[in-house]
Amino acid sequence: MKLLQAKLDKYQEPQKAKAAGIYPYFREISSEQDPEVIINGRKVLMFGSNCYSGLVNHPKIKEAAIEAIKKYGTGCAGSPFLNGTLDIHKELEAKLAEYVGKEDAMIYSTGFGVNLGVVSTLTGREDYILWDEQDHASIIEGRRLSFSQSLKYKHNDMESLENQLKKCDPSKVKLIVTDGVFSMEGDVANLPE
Ligand SMILES: Cc1ncc(COP(=O)(O)O)c(C=O)c1O
Repeated sequence: MKLLQAKLDKYQEPQKAKAAGIYPYFREISSEQDPEVIINGRKVLMFGSNCYSGLVNHPKIKEAAIEAIKKYGTGCAGSPFLNGTLDIHKELEAKLAEYVGKEDAMIYSTGFGVNLGVVSTLTGREDYILWDEQDHASIIEGRRLSFSQSLKYKHNDMESLENQLKKCDPSKVKLIVTDGVFSMEGDVANLPE
């Protein structure tokens, strides 16, 4: 009985916290992801979107997605390494590489996946990853998965970065990882310096 009560209390905690306005919850959007969206039946302005290009609702892209679903179905049914690579993935990678003037490209389904996959594997056990303390969570998770030594520097502070660089063995690889535009503060990485 005690156990049941404890379980019930635990279950009710999020409800209470939500009612008190201190628990994160998910707002349901019932429209396209435009500058204006519908939440709870009301039109509101959207300031949190990552869809900077607005292409998510472009008629041509919607049409292409519908055609792709008709041909390939709604999923890849496997990891890219095994059976999950489609011909249209390779076509897109080739076009993206050409667009940015590079030899090749690799697509991921989310930005989080990119940082998790790339940051964790670029450097070796004896190398270094230097990261800005305000880097996005995906970068933090990526460097946590890496075997390299990790050194944090103060946000956008080049003196702090320099000090951390001085601690590194000059003969090893040093990877400095920073957001381009920091997602919380909105400030820009000090690349010129
Ligand atoms: C700076 C930054 N990096 C990475 C991500 C992760 O991207 P995604 O939502 O595509 O996983 C986000 C947003 O969520 C972001 O703001």
